[in-house]
Amino acid sequence: MQYIEPLYRPPSEARSLILQVTNGCSWNRCTFCEMYTQPQKQFHMKPLAAIDAELQAVAATNMTVRRVFLADGDAMTLSFRRLRDILNCINKHLPHVQRISSYCLPRNLLHKTAAELAELRKLGLSLYYVGCESGDDLVLARVHKGETYDSSLAAPEKIKAAGSKSSVMILNGLGGSRYSHQHAVNSARLMNAAQPDYLSTLVVSFPLGVQRFQEGFAGEFEALQQTGLFREMHTLLSELTLTQTIFRSDHASNYLVLRGTLGKDKQKLLELVATALDKPGTVPLRQEWQRGL
Ligand SMILES: C[S@@+](CC[C@H](N)C(=O)[O-])C[C@H]1O[C@@H](n2cnc3c(N)ncnc32)[C@H](O)[C@@H]1O
Ligand code: SF4
Repeated sequence: MQYIEPLYRPPSEARSLILQVTNGCSWNRCTFCEMYTQPQKQFHMKPLAAIDAELQAVAATNMTVRRVFLADGDAMTLSFRRLRDILNCINKHLPHVQRISSYCLPRNLLHKTAAELAELRKLGLSLYYVGCESGDDLVLARVHKGETYDSSLAAPEKIKAAGSKSSVMILNGLGGSRYSHQHAVNSARLMNAAQPDYLSTLVVSFPLGVQRFQEGFAGEFEALQQTGLFREMHTLLSELTLTQTIFRSDHASNYLVLRGTLGKDKQKLLELVATALDKPGTVPLRQEWQRGL
C-alpha cells in the first residue's frame, strides 16, 4: 500500500486492511487535533483508478482480507456515489470482506439519506467511528468542532436507521477544569439520546503544545490533571443511562483503563474510578511514557 504518513486508525482496526481513499481531513480545524496538519496531509481524494490498482495488488497476494478501514480522517466526506464505487471496487477484488468501516464527522452524513446509508451497508460499510468529542455546545464551539449537540445526535440516529453501527468518541478533559462538569453531563445526555453501539473515551492530549487549543478558550483553559480526569469520568459514567453499549476507555491516551458493557457494568466501572480517586496507588494506571495517540 502506498500511504501518505502519518496514518491513523481506531485501535479496533489493528488487523484491518487500511485503505487510504482520501488524504488528510476535509475540515482539519478542530483545535485539539494535529493529526493531519503536516504539509503532506493537505486534503485530497485518491483517484478511483489508484484505489483499484492498490486493491488489485492486495488481491494478487492471495491474502484473505475480512475487514477494511477507509482512511484518512473523514472518508465519509466523499459523495454517496463515490463511496458506492469504492465499495464495489473492494468487493470485486476482495470477496471475503465482511466489514468495512470509516471515521465520520457528523456533518459528513448531512446530505446522505438513511436509504443511501442502507445501500452502502449492503455493500459492506457497516461501522462508523463518529468523533462527537462532547455533547456540550459551548465546549464544541471552543474547540472549533463545527458541530453542536443536535448535529452530533443526527449522525448516530441516521446510522442506526440504516441498520449500521456507530462507535462514538468522547474526549475526557476537553473542557478543562472550568467546563468539566457541563462537558461530562452534556456528553452523557448526548450518548443517552444516541445509544451508540460502542462508546470510547480518550484523554485529550497536546503532543505539539497547548497554544492552538488555548486560543479557542481565550487563554482560560486549565488542563485537568489525573484526579480531575477521573472525577470527570465518574460524572460521565454516573449520568450515562445506556442500555446496550460496549464501553472502552482503553486507548493509549488513557491513564485508567476501563472496559465493560453499559448499563450492565455501570456500578463496577464507577467503583473502579472511585477507587482510583480515593485510594491512589491501588489501581494500576498507565505511566506517562506508556501513553500516546
Ligand atoms: C483521526 S480523528 C478522526 C475523527 C473524525 N474526523 C471525526 O471528527 O469524527 C479520530 C479521533 O481522534 C481523537 N483525537 C484527535 N486529536 C486528539 C488529541 N489531541 N487528543 C486526544 N484525542 C484526539 C478524537 O476523538 C477524534 O475524533
Ligand atoms: S477531529 Fe476529525 S474533524 Fe477534527 S480535525 Fe481531527 S480528523 Fe478533522
